[in-house]
Amino acid sequence: MFVYGLLTLALAAIPSAFAQTDFTAAHNITPITGTWSSGSKQVITGKFANPSNLSFNYPPTTGVCYSFTDDGWYEVARYRFNGNGSKPQCITGVLNWHHGQYQLLDNGSIVLIPNGDGYQQIQDPCAAETNFIQNYNDTELYDHWQIVQDQDAGPTLELFNFDGSPVAPLYQIYNPPNMLPTTKLRNVTVASDVQNLLAMNAGARSWSPADVMALLSSVFAVGVASLVL
Ligand SMILES: *[C@@H]1O[C@H](CO)[C@@H](O)[C@H](O)[C@H]1NC(C)=O
Ligand SMILES: *[C@@H]1O[C@H](CO)[C@@H](O)[C@H](O)[C@H]1NC(C)=O
Ligand SMILES: *[C@@H]1O[C@H](CO)[C@@H](O)[C@H](O)[C@H]1NC(C)=O
Ligand SMILES: *[C@@H]1O[C@H](CO)[C@@H](O)[C@H](O)[C@H]1NC(C)=O
Ligand SMILES: *[C@@H]1O[C@H](CO)[C@@H](O)[C@H](O)[C@H]1NC(C)=O
Repeated sequence: MFVYGLLTLALAAIPSAFAQTDFTAAHNITPITGTWSSGSKQVITGKFANPSNLSFNYPPTTGVCYSFTDDGWYEVARYRFNGNGSKPQCITGVLNWHHGQYQLLDNGSIVLIPNGDGYQQIQDPCAAETNFIQNYNDTELYDHWQIVQDQDAGPTLELFNFDGSPVAPLYQIYNPPNMLPTTKLRNVTVASDVQNLLAMNAGARSWSPADVMALLSSVFAVGVASLVL
């Protein structure tokens, strides 16, 4: 907090041409605490998911949101649509929520280790099973990150996925962060881990972790780019 305050003050004194200065060299000591949301900032941790009944409060627009506390807890909320160039009618949607503990690694990566109570809803109009909810408990690695000072939007968190592709720019909307309680918010049985929790249609399309990560991490989708941030 203190260090960041100084950096912000220092940046304020820098001419605008240099306002995109990044903190890469110091990013492990630049506080990442707060709530950071993409695009129109409508996807917000703390009010996105209702874990007790496995539901979501649908935001008015899509986006992603990450929160970090100063004592090692995180929460992620993601609402995405992906298009398919070869099948334009097959826009896939996902709502994904999880929280747990994060680690800032010495090599500049961030690891998010979930509590085990995360879940997601997938809508896939062209699959046999078009709408279902399943557990989500994948540990996520972010290759690197930096916080830059955007002249208009203020502090902006740039996160890079495990494969180096960027997450949409994330603007700080709260500090301290707006989050659900960091404790485990629902009990997950081992048996339900291997099944879809709520299948709204019978069917057999299965989603591998790689499918889901591709869906969650793609930055721009063919034909629906305006929906994606
Ligand atoms: C789930 O719980 C939340 C918060 O208690 C409530 O607002 C919402 O209406 C519930 N949704 C369903 C589908 O029961
Ligand atoms: C698009 O649809 C084709 C044909 O069903 C499928 O093979 C491909 O994996 C889909 N692409 C994406 C990004 O979902
Ligand atoms: C969720 O993942 C974490 C980290 O791999 C693991 O420690 C935990 O046991 C998992 N929880 C469940 C319910 O699978
Ligand atoms: C940092 O270390 C972790 C754990 O060893 C590894 O998975 C990750 O790829 C490393 N990141 C970079 C940028 O080398
Ligand atoms: C999970 O189950 C335990 C044991 O039955 C119970 O004490 C706890 O309150 C439950 N947690 C939640 C979040 O429902």
